[in-house]
Amino acid sequence: MIHPNLTRLKQQADVAIEAFLQQWPRAAGDGLYEPVHYLMELGGKRLRAVLALSAAEAEGRPCEVAFPVALGVELFHNFTLMHDDIMDAAPLRRGKETVHMKWDENAAILSGDAMYTLAHIAFAKLPSNGLPAALQLFNRTALEVCLGQQSDMAFETRNDVTVAEYMEMIRLKTSVLVAASLALGAIAAGASEERVELWYALGEELGLAFQMQDDLLDAFGDTQVGKQIGGDILADKKTFLRLYTQEKGGDAARKVLTKWDGQRDDAPAKIEAVRKAMSAAGAAQAARELMHAHVAKAMASAEALELKGSHLEWFQFLGGMVTQRTS
Ligand code: IPE
Ligand code: IPE
Ligand code: MG
Ligand code: MG
Ligand code: MG
Repeated sequence: MIHPNLTRLKQQADVAIEAFLQQWPRAAGDGLYEPVHYLMELGGKRLRAVLALSAAEAEGRPCEVAFPVALGVELFHNFTLMHDDIMDAAPLRRGKETVHMKWDENAAILSGDAMYTLAHIAFAKLPSNGLPAALQLFNRTALEVCLGQQSDMAFETRNDVTVAEYMEMIRLKTSVLVAASLALGAIAAGASEERVELWYALGEELGLAFQMQDDLLDAFGDTQVGKQIGGDILADKKTFLRLYTQEKGGDAARKVLTKWDGQRDDAPAKIEAVRKAMSAAGAAQAARELMHAHVAKAMASAEALELKGSHLEWFQFLGGMVTQRTS
């Protein structure tokens, strides 16, 4: 799916990121910045940066005013991925070996820490009038992401997780950063507090849908996803798909889930068996319905922002992209 704004703003983000990172060049055999460049050059969608730039433009300012926050949220996002891949024992990211596999866990921990610091260095480039509000939101968001990741891990070994707990977990680990990306772009553009809150509300709903699609792709996607398919199943992640199957799949489904819980030895068999139980329960369809309901809520916030013409159309496109993406 392409849209002129997507091509243009992603390109702007790519160029800004590359220029920023040149301040910390990779050196042969250097174990700190090499993994940073490696992961950043694998790219990804740059969604959070694009959202920050888009909000600034929708507030009537050139996207350049949001470069510091766009860099900050994208670096922070990539830092969370580097650590998340250790936590999830993930072998693949963006179609390539994860940092902890290519180097080792210590490298991924330290280079991740460096990226978190780089995010703060990027934020520090904001003009002083926007900086306190931006940092306050960014730091609150960073703590919330940690809380979400903590729940995500704790849920692996729990069998009584509710859908409400799942929604709160994904709000924290994923949505708040999507929301903050928009809100920070608006702050950088000098928007009123009221509008910043509306941007945040839009992003919070979009982020929930985004993570639901992430979970769908993890279970049912193909190689385009660039991650190990079935990784969530292997780790007994309490995704909506899993909770729905547990609840609505009947005794047969529950038996399958119990049989495989905690097992990692025969990954292909486990993934196939659990995926089959999920399909039989109709979990993917139910997840899609809930995901679309969250996009609809996001679009209601877009209306409250009274976005005009091409800006409204662009955010409608983004809403569609979140649910139709294949990577
Ligand atoms: C993956 O994020 C982690 C989640 C929060 C779901 P993305 O799907 O945005 O990853 P990249 O940056 O495009 O690779
Ligand atoms: C990741 O959730 C959320 C954060 C990195 C904070 P996932 O663990 O589902 O992300 P992927 O699927 O590995 O990208
Ligand atoms: Mg993961
Ligand atoms: Mg994870
Ligand atoms: Mg995932």
